Amino acid sequence: MRILGIESSCDETAMSIVSENDGVIVIEKSLVASQIDLHKIYGGVVPEVAAREHVSAIFPMLLEMNISRDGQEIDAISVTAGPGLVAALRIGVELAKTLAWMWKKPLVAANHLEGHVYSVWSQTPTPAFPALCLLVSGGHTELFLMRDHGHYELIGMTRDDAAGEAFDKVAKLLGLGYPGGPAISKIALEGNASAITFPRPMLESGDSDFSFSGLKTAVRVYREAHPEASVADIAASFQQAVVDILTIKTLAAVNRYAPKSVILSGGVSANRALRELLSSQLAQQFPDVTFHAPNIELSGDNAVMIAIAGLHRAKQNDFVDPLTLEANPNMRLV
Ligand code: KG4
Ligand code: ZN
Repeated sequence: MRILGIESSCDETAMSIVSENDGVIVIEKSLVASQIDLHKIYGGVVPEVAAREHVSAIFPMLLEMNISRDGQEIDAISVTAGPGLVAALRIGVELAKTLAWMWKKPLVAANHLEGHVYSVWSQTPTPAFPALCLLVSGGHTELFLMRDHGHYELIGMTRDDAAGEAFDKVAKLLGLGYPGGPAISKIALEGNASAITFPRPMLESGDSDFSFSGLKTAVRVYREAHPEASVADIAASFQQAVVDILTIKTLAAVNRYAPKSVILSGGVSANRALRELLSSQLAQQFPDVTFHAPNIELSGDNAVMIAIAGLHRAKQNDFVDPLTLEANPNMRLV
C-alpha cells in the first residue's frame, strides 16, 4: 500500500508518500515547509497567519510531490484532522477531501498525536505491545499505554502547561526567542545543569500526572531576584528539572504497568538531554524494556508520521467520508 500523508495542524505544512510492503515501511518522499521564521516575529504561532501560509504553501507542495493527475500510484490518503488550530487544520483537510473525492481513494482522518506516536514505526525494530508512550509536544504532555495498534489508555497528563509550552515560555522570559525548546537546549550546552535547584513538581503525587506551570514561575522569580545570573546556567538547570520530571514519572509508570517498550515522541523528543537520560535510566532499571524515539527530523511535525498512522488505520478499514469530514481542533486519542 502507498499512502499520501498531509499535515497542516500548526506551523508546518507537510506532505509525504510512504509505502508498506510486508510490514516494511519505506519513506518515498517527505516535504516540510516550516513557518517558524514568520512566527518568530510575534514570539509564537499566530493562527490566522499560519492558515494563510498553509494556503500558499500547500499547492506548490502538492505539485512538488509529482503525483500523476489521477493519483493512480496512491492507494489512500491520510490527513491530520485534529487536534490543532482549526483554521490551519482546514487547509490540509479540504485538500485531502478534494483529492480523495477526485481520485476515488479512501481517506483516513488521522489524529496528530497518534501520528507522533507512529513516527517511531518508521524505524526497525518496531515497538512491542504493550507500549508506554510519553508524548511531549507544544500542546500536549501525556502518558499513554498502547495495548495494540489504535488502542490507547490515558494514564497521565499535564494539569497545566505542556512540556514544550514550558520550554517556549521560559525561553521567552530569558529572551531566547521562539521556538523555545531548540533555543534552550542549545544554550544549555554552555551552562551548568546543577547551578540552580529548580522545583520538580508532582514527583510525589503518586499518579502519572505532570505540572510545569510552577516550574516556569520559579524560573521567573529566580531571574528577577538574580538578574546577574548566567542565562546558560538558568536554561541548563530548567532543562534538567523538566528532563528529571519526565524521566522519573515515566520510569514509575514502567514499574506500574510493565510495558514491553517505551515510546518517546512529539516535538520535545528532539531534546538530547531527555533522550539520553530516559534511555539510559530505562536500560539500567528495566533492561528488557526497549526504548524507541523518532529520528530527530521526524520528532517535530511532519507528514511521514501522519502517513504511517494512516497506514495502520487503513489496515483496519478505518476510513471517513470525503464529503463530510471536518477538521476537529479538539480531536482526542482516547
Ligand atoms: O510536536 P511539535 O513540533 O508541535 C506540536 O504538536 O506542538 O512540538 C513543538 C514543541 C515546541 O514547544 C518546541 O519548543 C518543542 O517542541 N521542542 C523542543 C525541542 N525541539 C522542539 N523542546 C525541547 N528541546 C528541544 N530540542
Ligand atoms: Zn506535533
